Amino acid sequence: MSETGTHASEAVAVAAERRWGIIVALIIVVLIAMMIFTSVHWASMPPSRVETIDPRTLHLSGEFVESNLGTAVEADGKVVVRLVAQQYSFEPQCMLVPADTPVTFRGTSSDVVHGFVVGTTNANAMLIPGFVATFTTTFRKAGEQLMPCHEYCGTGHAAMWARFQVVPQQEFMAKARKGERLTCVPR
Ligand code: CUA
Repeated sequence: MSETGTHASEAVAVAAERRWGIIVALIIVVLIAMMIFTSVHWASMPPSRVETIDPRTLHLSGEFVESNLGTAVEADGKVVVRLVAQQYSFEPQCMLVPADTPVTFRGTSSDVVHGFVVGTTNANAMLIPGFVATFTTTFRKAGEQLMPCHEYCGTGHAAMWARFQVVPQQEFMAKARKGERLTCVPR
């Protein structure tokens, strides 16, 4: 190759490197901008606290025994849904919550990692054995939604889902009696 040929190909290589350098820098800038936007605008933060629980005794004692699962109106008026995931179902199978009311979820898993999302709402969490997942959200629309498991948890993963019912606030409060756990599982 002639002297000029070598120079020309070097120039092409330098230009290509510079082009990719700029593209990569732009990607990094976009990712950082997204992080700043979501943390400031949506207040989405990494979990600030870790709550642990022994997955081997969930069904025997404590907050996640079967009789304590479902939706409760606590003494202070807060609406709390407690649920347990296991291969391959959620307990309770149908959750009942009021519309236009802050609802706090408290969930965990008794075996492997599961997760759930409620329809097209922002209610979305991972349920990890040994840890309690908790978040609060408000459902604006009454109606029924599906609540599938969204973490691959084994061969039955695709069949793992629960139903989710949002009812008008007055209807829910009329059903809620002190200390009772509400679900929409047919009895
Ligand atoms: Cu449970 Cu996938």
